[in-house]
Amino acid sequence: MKTILVGGQFGDEGKGKITSYIVMKDKPKIVVRGGVGPNAGHRVQYKGKTYGMRQLPCGFVYEKAKVMIGAGVLVDPDVFLKEVEMVGAKNRAFVDFRCTVIEQKHREEDAGEVGQKIGTTKTGCGPAWSDRVRRVAKLAQDEPKLKPFLTDVAKAVNKEKNVFVEGTQGFMLSVLYGTYPFVTSKDVSASTIAADVGLGPKSIDNVVMVIKSYTTRVGNGPLKNEVSVQEAEKLGMQEYGTVTGRPRRTSLDLHWDDLRTAVEINSATYLALTKVDVRFPGNQGVRKYSQLTKEAKKFIENIEKKVGVPVGLIGTGPDVFDVIDRRDEVL
Ligand code: IMP
Ligand code: MG
Repeated sequence: MKTILVGGQFGDEGKGKITSYIVMKDKPKIVVRGGVGPNAGHRVQYKGKTYGMRQLPCGFVYEKAKVMIGAGVLVDPDVFLKEVEMVGAKNRAFVDFRCTVIEQKHREEDAGEVGQKIGTTKTGCGPAWSDRVRRVAKLAQDEPKLKPFLTDVAKAVNKEKNVFVEGTQGFMLSVLYGTYPFVTSKDVSASTIAADVGLGPKSIDNVVMVIKSYTTRVGNGPLKNEVSVQEAEKLGMQEYGTVTGRPRRTSLDLHWDDLRTAVEINSATYLALTKVDVRFPGNQGVRKYSQLTKEAKKFIENIEKKVGVPVGLIGTGPDVFDVIDRRDEVL
């Protein structure tokens, strides 16, 4: 089975947590990251610690899986090496030899005028990708630090049956479909994520779109019905960015038109809904649908009605297994 996971909002939907649950259950032979690059921070728990992964896929938590980075992903060699070391994945980490390398000049440029206007993560992603498009970027195959990790990821994922593909950012940050110009530097919908790792549309079995029970965004750009930091704090919803530490902006709403578009363009099979326990206190750690409060159930039914695809996974707490798994019933 080949599964792609994508974000349905502005990033930070809880992709790391859902990824870790799915890989523990589905036991893929390869976990591979698509998406932009080290601008994304996915939080995941591993051996009792929380890690903010920016370069390696969070699926590394399933220790039998090979851990790969697809050709479409920008690689910052120092971030990569640090994470490989940090999680002890040296013998199972691989980088596609065609990946684009982020250099110091890219990070500097990203901190400049354009980066400030957009409120980028200053990780050099936009400028490095722009160099790739101009055909002047350095590739992973020309970076000595990456030599021991190079492989043909596209070949590997096509050969293997059980593959989990981790997308990054969220649909509303897509350079094509998001709130342009306040977006990231690439499309991040499922088709692009597939292409990032070298998979064609016909080889994908499942697309999981992760959404959070409320909406947050970091950086500049529109956010419908934004509330103040004070209000978000009062509701226990105030969050801080994994990569930059910036306070996230919060809206209590789910934006239905945007979510319907996201489901359509990602061809989502089902939704994974996170932080139901934050939105509806009293549901922390619940692992059975029948044990959810009435309000929470109504919220989930309403999402399914409005968006048109089932909610297959429901996150109710920080632990990897704080998840209600209804995939067998609803798919
Ligand atoms: P860049 O991707 O660093 O160029 O930043 C462009 C915009 O996308 C900024 O608003 C960032 O805050 C946002 N962004 C990029 N990656 C992520 C992510 O993984 N989560 C949330 N926001 C992101
Ligand atoms: Mg994040």
